[in-house]
Amino acid sequence: MTNRSLIFWDFMAKRYSRQPIADEEAYQKKLEVTRGYFKPDMKVMEFGSGTGSTAITHSPYVKHILAIDGSTKMTEIARGKADKENIRNVTFKTSTIDEFDVLDQTYDVVMGLSILHLLKNKEEVITKVYKMLKTGGIFVTSTTCMGNTMKFAKFIAPIGRLFGLVLRVFTTKELKKSMTDAGFLIDHEWQPPGKNKAVFIVAKKPGRK
Ligand SMILES: C[S@@+](CC[C@H](N)C(=O)[O-])C[C@H]1O[C@@H](n2cnc3c(N)ncnc32)[C@H](O)[C@@H]1O
Repeated sequence: MTNRSLIFWDFMAKRYSRQPIADEEAYQKKLEVTRGYFKPDMKVMEFGSGTGSTAITHSPYVKHILAIDGSTKMTEIARGKADKENIRNVTFKTSTIDEFDVLDQTYDVVMGLSILHLLKNKEEVITKVYKMLKTGGIFVTSTTCMGNTMKFAKFIAPIGRLFGLVLRVFTTKELKKSMTDAGFLIDHEWQPPGKNKAVFIVAKKPGRK
């Protein structure tokens, strides 16, 4: 990510944290499906974790979550929330997925939510996730294929362009191909009813855990 995009997310962080979830019912369903994959001894990593709500919500169900985000301000807000709720098993770190240094086969689950469409190198990132997952590991994603999916996107898109932030447009089929090309099997796919909703895909690194 360019520094201009990071400035954009820093600029948006407070507003983003106040923004209500566009489709609460769909969000809850995605949380529930994700939880179905969790076990109490699991090590989870989330990239593009934003203001930390998803990592915090999942924290009671796993051993540890490392949540990274390229924006310092997003990370600060996330840490503040975790401190307030006395969450001890989530570590928030400011880092882009590109600069994140990780050994192969480290995580049981990796989450990338509302992020893949923002990356200019999503294929590279998907391959990186594949490597950092243990055999049998799970990649949980929620990805919008058009900029108007979330109410929020309607106002971030024009401001974002000023900062060089481009929403990448691709189809669900293309996204799944990027995942299967990297070696993943598609384990779960769901798109909430409604126009242009983000598609929720759980991909699995083959092999027995
Ligand atoms: C649309 S928000 C999504 C936040 C959160 N995952 C959610 O679902 O609400 C995108 C987030 O990704 C972060 N981000 C963008 N590019 C990134 C990158 N290359 N590496 C890590 N974080 C990134 C931004 O700072 C922002 O917090």
